Amino acid sequence: MGLVSNLRGSRTQEGLPLSDELPSSSSVPNKRKWSNLVPLVVALVVIAEISFLGRLDIAKNAAFSDSWSDMFYKSHSSDGVAVAGDRNSATEGCEEWLEREDTVVYSRDFRKDPIWVSGNEQEWKTCDVSCMFGLHPSKKPDAAFSLPQESGVASVLRSMESATYYPDNNIAQARRRGYDIVMTTSLSSDVPVGYFSWAEYDIMAPVMPKTEKALAAAFISNCDARNFRLGALVGLEKANIEIDSYGGCHRNRNGEVDKVEALKRYKFSLAFENSNEEDYVTEKFFQSLVAGTIPVVVGAPNIEDFAPSPGSVLHIKELADVQSVAKRMKYLAENPDAYNRSLRWKYEGPSDSFKALLDMAAVHSSCRLCIHLATVIREKEEKSLDFKKRPCKCIRGSETVYHLYVRERGRFETHSIFLRLDNLTQKALEAVVVMKFKSQKHVPIWKQERPESIRGGDELKVYRIYPVGLTQRQALYSFKFERDADLKSHIQTNPCAKFEVIFV
Ligand SMILES: *[C@@H]1O[C@H](CO)[C@@H](O)[C@H](O)[C@H]1NC(C)=O
Ligand SMILES: *[C@@H]1O[C@H](CO)[C@@H](O)[C@H](O)[C@H]1NC(C)=O
Repeated sequence: MGLVSNLRGSRTQEGLPLSDELPSSSSVPNKRKWSNLVPLVVALVVIAEISFLGRLDIAKNAAFSDSWSDMFYKSHSSDGVAVAGDRNSATEGCEEWLEREDTVVYSRDFRKDPIWVSGNEQEWKTCDVSCMFGLHPSKKPDAAFSLPQESGVASVLRSMESATYYPDNNIAQARRRGYDIVMTTSLSSDVPVGYFSWAEYDIMAPVMPKTEKALAAAFISNCDARNFRLGALVGLEKANIEIDSYGGCHRNRNGEVDKVEALKRYKFSLAFENSNEEDYVTEKFFQSLVAGTIPVVVGAPNIEDFAPSPGSVLHIKELADVQSVAKRMKYLAENPDAYNRSLRWKYEGPSDSFKALLDMAAVHSSCRLCIHLATVIREKEEKSLDFKKRPCKCIRGSETVYHLYVRERGRFETHSIFLRLDNLTQKALEAVVVMKFKSQKHVPIWKQERPESIRGGDELKVYRIYPVGLTQRQALYSFKFERDADLKSHIQTNPCAKFEVIFV
């Protein structure tokens, strides 16, 4: 396999097209300016909304403004069972009042007017927001996979290649070029597209006996790479680590084998990427995990973030590490108990951190793109005056209650929760979130995706709660309200603050 075919080898695994250059909407006749249609669409959406909710008492609760496009109405929420905190009647009243007063109807109902992305025809039926891909001659899409786009259409860059080989995939570079939304392997991109998913890899497949004489297997297609992987391979060979090489680089075995089946028989697998880039972790690594062989990694400097448990991978961070890693490999090879401990996650399950990472891919990146687009559309509208009129907090005597919203990562719809000023703590937030989702008998979005042995029971365990809008890198690894005071100030400066929760 040549370099390019290797790079492209697993691109289609998520159903991604081979080319990111999908036909741009400029090839589609642009019938009418979207803005001309707005009053009509708003009217239709409102009528649809009314009939959907079956609310004939709209006039009573409505607040019509002069222009149609400005129009919104308030309605009593049907979601209203308050579950939070204190149960005295005053608080109860605050929660109901907030539910009603904070309800503002958005001008676009995605059920009637789905998020539309220009691309290969597909409807993402299981997506939490209505999400359509396709080419529609008379419809302006919300997004398209190319540059430049007319105003109102987001330009999306989607690629699973490393920025080392495709510099345009660097997030800052992509933004400079005018992309609004970046989808790359980087967890700092707007909608990450990873090589990993529970569906793609049978991560919990059983460990097989290590029957090969050689310590490690390598499937390196090409010795030529812009990192030191060739040097590391040569270094391990010099350190007398016996390596069976099935790929084009230093081949000494016939490469026509089932890769994962072959890897299962080795104690170690050389998971050497062609570039050392944050979050750039490909099938080489995940196949090693499936095979139950210890990955020896040259690649992402943050590979520990992808480890199924601490100490389960060996990392050659730089060439100088080759000696110590070779020594460690020999030690583990000669000490079955120590070796077995490195694979303990196969028996006991991977860490919460690993589960939380892989669970991200339980929702297809195309659906996550639609959720991202819909969220941005909502946020834009929330800057309008009508939304600024929402009280978002209720003061009754000595008590102040804040209205917050929360949704599960991978879903679009939010749910109301309430926190009292005297209890604006992370602990209380977590407790209230769990209560809310429990009361709805919520089933985590990854439930059907994860291997059965690690699905857990019916309890809801919070892994992270963070403000909507953070990147997955922040959400999973770097963001934290350092103190309760930080959470408090976040809630006080962001009326009706929205949070996202990751359950493990
Ligand atoms: C490795 O450890 C697991 C338990 O952690 C045990 O079930 C298994 O038999 C061990 N395998 C070997 C080869 O020692
Ligand atoms: C704060 O909230 C937590 C979780 O809901 C609750 O257990 C605790 O009793 C509350 N404290 C006060 C002072 O209301």
